[in-house]
Amino acid sequence: MQNKLITLIEQTEKQKAIYKPLLFRLKTEEEFVKFNHLIKSESNLMVFDELRGQVKELIKLRNPKKNMTVEEMEDEISNYFDKNDPDKLGVWAYYPWANKIVHLLDEEEFVEVRTNRNFYKITPEEKDILAQKKVGIIGLSVGQSVSVTMAMERSFGEIRLADFDILELSNYNRIRTPLSNLGVSKAIAVAREIAEIDPYIKVKCFPDGLHEGNMDKFFSEGGNLDLLIDECDGLDIKILARIKAKELRIPVVMEASDRCMLDVERFDLEPDRPLLHGLVDGLDIKKLKSLRTNEEKVPYLLAMIGIDTISSRLKASMFEIEQTITTWPQLASAVTLGGGLTADVCRRIFINEFSDSGRYYMDVEQIVGNKDKKKPTLIESKGFEDAYLNKDEIIAIINSSNLTLNNKQKLINESEIKEIVSSALLAPSPGNNQPWQWYYDKGNLYLFLNKKKSSASSDFDNLFSFISLGASMENLILKAQEKGLDVCVEEFPSGKSSPLVAKFNFYTPHLETAENRDYQALSQYIHLRCSNRNGGNKERINPSVIDNLISLQRSTPGATIKIIDDRARLIELNEVIKTCERIRFLHPELHADFFEKEIRWNNQSVESSKDGMDIRTLELSATDQAGMRVAKEVEAISLLNKWKKGKGFEKISGKNLDAASAIGFIALPRHSASSYLQGGRLVERLWLSATKYQLALQPLMAPILMFLKLKHNDLAGLPEHLLTELRDAREKYLKLLNIDENIAEIFLFRLAFAEPPTARSLRLPLEKLLLINKI
Ligand SMILES: Cc1cc2nc3c(=O)[nH]c(=O)nc-3n(C[C@H](O)[C@H](O)[C@H](O)COP(=O)(O)O)c2cc1C
Repeated sequence: MQNKLITLIEQTEKQKAIYKPLLFRLKTEEEFVKFNHLIKSESNLMVFDELRGQVKELIKLRNPKKNMTVEEMEDEISNYFDKNDPDKLGVWAYYPWANKIVHLLDEEEFVEVRTNRNFYKITPEEKDILAQKKVGIIGLSVGQSVSVTMAMERSFGEIRLADFDILELSNYNRIRTPLSNLGVSKAIAVAREIAEIDPYIKVKCFPDGLHEGNMDKFFSEGGNLDLLIDECDGLDIKILARIKAKELRIPVVMEASDRCMLDVERFDLEPDRPLLHGLVDGLDIKKLKSLRTNEEKVPYLLAMIGIDTISSRLKASMFEIEQTITTWPQLASAVTLGGGLTADVCRRIFINEFSDSGRYYMDVEQIVGNKDKKKPTLIESKGFEDAYLNKDEIIAIINSSNLTLNNKQKLINESEIKEIVSSALLAPSPGNNQPWQWYYDKGNLYLFLNKKKSSASSDFDNLFSFISLGASMENLILKAQEKGLDVCVEEFPSGKSSPLVAKFNFYTPHLETAENRDYQALSQYIHLRCSNRNGGNKERINPSVIDNLISLQRSTPGATIKIIDDRARLIELNEVIKTCERIRFLHPELHADFFEKEIRWNNQSVESSKDGMDIRTLELSATDQAGMRVAKEVEAISLLNKWKKGKGFEKISGKNLDAASAIGFIALPRHSASSYLQGGRLVERLWLSATKYQLALQPLMAPILMFLKLKHNDLAGLPEHLLTELRDAREKYLKLLNIDENIAEIFLFRLAFAEPPTARSLRLPLEKLLLINKI
C-alpha cells in the first residue's frame, strides 16, 4: 500500500471515537482565535454558510400573519444583523469526522426554527417539558431509528446511547448510515447523526455497551434517566437494565421489529410490576449471561417477546438459524416503523398523555392486507378420540364372532385380572395413544383395537397400533406366567377387519398348547421399560449383549433382528432417519397429528388426558423446546415447504441420533396385521431385555411410517421436492440395512447408554380400558 494511503487511513482511524461537534461563537475572542487556527490548519475543509437563509426563515416564522415583500424581508434581515459582521453571529459547528463546518443559528433560535413545524402536534409548553427529558437507549440497530426520530422531533434534551457493537455491512439492510461508518461504534454513529441534525442536543455515548460496571453512570450521572428504551440483544442486560430501571422507577419501552410489537413497563407508576409482565419470572440471570450462540439465545428471546405472537415468517426463519442463516431476520421497513412508533409513544409518556403498561401490535400485514387473504387450510387430525367401545358394542362383536368355546380354562378373580391387564397397559404405543380395550367374561379375556384412538394418518392401516397391541399382549402373557398361569391366545378370532384382536384363556396346571415360558423372567422389567429419549455417550455395547438381543429373533418364526453399531454405517443411517423425521414434521397431516393431538405442552394437559406425549419426555433442550413451540404453527410449516427449507427439524432428533451406541431393526417376512401383532410381541421382548441390560431404547419410527406411506401413495400434500428426497432416502436405507423391499418392517430403534428419562409417560386409568362382566 502507498505510504500516503496508509497515512490517510491512520488519520481517519483516529477520528473513530469522535462524536461531539465543536461549536465556535466568534463573538468571543478566544473562540475566534481557535476557529481561525482550525481553518488554517485543516486542509480540504468544507464550509457551509447558509445563515442568512436560516435568519430569513426565523423572521418568517415569527411573523406568520405578515406577507412580506422582498424589500420588507431584506429590511428585517438587515435589522437582525444590525450592522454586525454576519460571521460573528450564530455558531460555526465543526464536524471533525466529516471535516466540515456549518454556520447555524444559535441554540434558542435554531431550536425555534427547527421544531417550528411540530406546533401544535407538540405545543410550546410540551416542547419545553420535552427539552428537560433524559432518555437512555440500549441497542442501536433498532435504537438508531428510534434515537434519530426522537432527535428530529426533539422529544428529549439529553440522550445516552449504549451499544458495544460496531457497524458491519450486514447491518446496512436496516440501519441507514453512510458506508464510511463501517467499523465505527453503532453508538457513535448515531451520536454523529444526531449532531448533524442538531448540534445542541446533549449526547453521551457508551460505546462499551451497558454493563454492570457503567450501569450507575448510564442511569444516573447528570441526573436520572426519565425513560429507558431497550432495543438490545443482550438477554442478561435486558433483565439487569430493567432491574435498575425498576429500582429507580424509570419506565421502559421496547420495540421488537416483528409485527411492530411495542412493550411498555411503567415502573414509574407501578413500582411493583413484574419485569417484562412476568414473562421472565424464574429465569436464571447467571445462565442468561453465559449464553453464547444465537441458537442458545433464541428460546429466551422468544420467551421475552412471546413465542405465540411472533409472525409466521419469523417463526419459520427461527428454524433456519445456524442452518442457512446466522441470526434472526429484521427488515428496514419494520425498523423504520418501529422508530416512529416508539418515538410517538415515548413522547406521550413524557407529556403524561399515556400511562398504561402493556404490549401492543401495529401489524402492518394485518392492518393493510388483502381482505380475502387465504389462510392455510387447517388439517383436522382423525383419531386420538377419548372414545371407547361400550359393553353392548363389545358383546355384539363377540356374539357375531365365530369363537372357539373353551370350557377347561381357569376362571380368574377380579383382582388377578386387573393385575395382569394393568401390566398390559404399560406397553408402548405410538404417541402414547393406548389404542386398546379389554373385556373379561367367564374365563375369556378379549383384546380390542380402539380405532378411535388410533390415528388415521400417522398410523398407516392401524399397523402401528397392532405393534402396540402385540406389545401389550406380551406384557399380559408374561405377567400371567409370573403368576403361575399358562396362557392360550387366539389371534384375530373373527377376522382381521374386526376390532376383536385376540382372545386369551388361562390355565393351571400347564397346557401343551400354551404360550412358551422361555421369557417369563422378563416380566420384572415391565414396570421399568420406557422410551428414553436422552442422548448417550456413543459407547459400544458389549457384543455378547448384542448377540443376546439378536437371538430373540428365534422366538418369532421368520423374524429378523439387526443391530448396527459400526460408526460409519450409523452415521449414514442417521442421515436417512433425520431426513425422514424432518419430512414427517413438514407433512401437513402428520404435522397436525403431532402438534395438535399427540403433544401435551404442559403438566395440566398431561395430568388431565393421561395419554399423548408429555413434552418433557422428549428430553429437549430449552432451544429445541422453543423450536417445537415455533414449529407448531401450520403457516410457518407451509412457508418452510415453499422455501424448500426446514433443516432445523433435523437438529432436534439429530443430537440424540449421533449420541447412540447402536441402531436396531426388526422385520418379519410378510406384510399382514398378524406380522405387526407378532412383531409387536417381539418388540416388547427386545425392549424388556434392553431394559434388563440398562440400555436406553427409543423407537425411531419416522422412516418406517414415511416409507410405508410412500409405498402406498399415502402422502398427499407433501411437496414434490420432499417426495423425491424421500425416495432417495428409501434407496439408501434399503442398502444400508441390506433388506428387501417387500418385507414387513416392524421397528427401528436407537440403543444408548443414557441418563434415566426426566419424566415417564402416563397411562389411562384401568377402569376406562377394562370391562369385567360380573354376571
Ligand atoms: C409403534 C410405535 C411407534 C413409536 N414411534 C416412536 C417414534 O417415532 N419416536 C419416539 O420417540 N417414540 C416412539 N414411540 C414410543 C412411544 O411414544 C411411547 O411408547 C409412548 O409414548 C409411551 O411411552 P413409554 O414407552 O415410555 O411407556 C413409538 C411406540 C410405538 C409402539
